[in-house]
Amino acid sequence: MELGGLPDGQGAEDTYYQCVACHSTEIIKQQRVTDHRWDELWTWMVEAQGMVEPDDETKKVILSYLKANFSSER
Ligand code: HEC
Repeated sequence: MELGGLPDGQGAEDTYYQCVACHSTEIIKQQRVTDHRWDELWTWMVEAQGMVEPDDETKKVILSYLKANFSSER
């Protein structure tokens, strides 16, 4: 499936390439978490898993995309 089945939207492509280096999109698609939790997950991916961070703009785009599409808050 295109972009691992991530819903269309601004940031879908950036999210795909940033995140599938280590695992499939399934682990992302099954999440329904708070905005705060997405920030924590990002930090955990960087600090504990060694995720290489993109530039600030791309980080913002990806976190907005995650919060818009895989949220327990909206
Ligand atoms: C450098 C490797 C790496 C990258 C890049 C990475 N992750 Fe992960 N991620 C992991 C590992 C390792 C786990 C633990 C997998 C497991 O439990 O089997 C994980 C687990 C997760 C989980 C499940 C957390 C939980 O509560 O169990 C989520 C959600 C997640 N990643 C989201 C992302 C997102 C979103 C991105 C892109 C922004 C991303 N990951 C990029 C390594 C990575």
